[in-house]
Amino acid sequence: MQNQPVETPHADHLIRKRVLVTGGAGFLGSHLCERLLDQGHEVLCVDNYYTGRRSNVEHLLDNPRFETMRHDITSPLLVEVDEIYNLACPASPVHYQFDPVQTLKTCVHGSINMLGLAKRVKAKIFQASTSEVYGDPLVHPQPESYWGHVNPLGLRSCYDEGKRAAETLFFDYHRQHGVEIRVVRIFNTYGPRMHPNDGRVVSNFIIQALKGNNISMYGDGSQTRSFCYVDDLVEGFLRLMNQDATMGPVNIGNPGEFTIRQLAEMVVELTGSSSRLVQLPLPADDPRQRRPDISLAKQHLDWEPKVQLREGLERTIAYFDRLLRGDNKI
Ligand SMILES: NC(=O)c1ccc[n+]([C@@H]2O[C@H](COP(=O)([O-])OP(=O)(O)OC[C@H]3O[C@@H](n4cnc5c(N)ncnc54)[C@H](O)[C@@H]3O)[C@@H](O)[C@H]2O)c1
Repeated sequence: MQNQPVETPHADHLIRKRVLVTGGAGFLGSHLCERLLDQGHEVLCVDNYYTGRRSNVEHLLDNPRFETMRHDITSPLLVEVDEIYNLACPASPVHYQFDPVQTLKTCVHGSINMLGLAKRVKAKIFQASTSEVYGDPLVHPQPESYWGHVNPLGLRSCYDEGKRAAETLFFDYHRQHGVEIRVVRIFNTYGPRMHPNDGRVVSNFIIQALKGNNISMYGDGSQTRSFCYVDDLVEGFLRLMNQDATMGPVNIGNPGEFTIRQLAEMVVELTGSSSRLVQLPLPADDPRQRRPDISLAKQHLDWEPKVQLREGLERTIAYFDRLLRGDNKI
């Protein structure tokens, strides 16, 4: 862990700030906390540990600039901070569908609470939105200007519509109260510290391959996804937060498009596993294809992903390999 701020594209980074990260003990949140500490900031990690784990941030607990607080963002919070990253929300269908009303409350009440806090303490606030706001898209790849094709009543709606409502709240707080907002639409991201049992495709395939079990592909595996490595994503977060002015939502993701079958085959190859691919029925409202149009991020943030799928998978496989061997120092 470095104590000195590292050089970044904007001088703004060099000023020490108090930063609140909600969902900080989750997969993405823990990587973000780490990067913010590396840059010399003070970080307050708020989490209700619904899907987050203490082990994700355990290695940060000795840092005097790092604090954790168990709190559910559906209740108000009053703390003095300069910036807020609002990441709290279960992100995988297994978890967000387990208690859909709580998911919607986290998106809506949670956003209102965090926006209210930002307004009171004049903090800049960042929302982790999602490519799910595009639903099962009729436009491909998806630019930010696309309004989406979302089922408002289905099993995924608590999340998709919750995130859409959260975006609306962010832009209304900006227009009505002048709150400085940043909204990122995250496309499939993977990497170390993904939850091992949340049914997301990358972690599922890796764990199945490492255990030598069958690899369960939904459908024939011809549906496509794009996969962004977590370090690339977090770099995009920081660049967006440090933009001079509020702008519309920005897609952050990797435009490299792979079929689910290609992903499964690559995981089998990299793990050296003897697992076989098997087909299961497609879940309801499963999008056929997903790929971000990242022109805005390239133009305004000078951002594009650097980590190739093969390299990112190798790092993620190494993490899960250690996890399955019972190494709890990861
Ligand atoms: N990982 C991805 O590919 C992806 C894609 C699109 C959007 N996102 C968004 O990014 C954010 C982080 O996702 P992640 O992949 O790290 O998921 P995650 O489940 O690992 O992290 C979410 C964190 O939020 C916490 N949390 C949930 N509800 C809460 C509440 N009411 N109060 C306080 N804490 C709460 C969880 O305990 C967890 O630590 C989420 O908002 C998610 O919707 C992620």
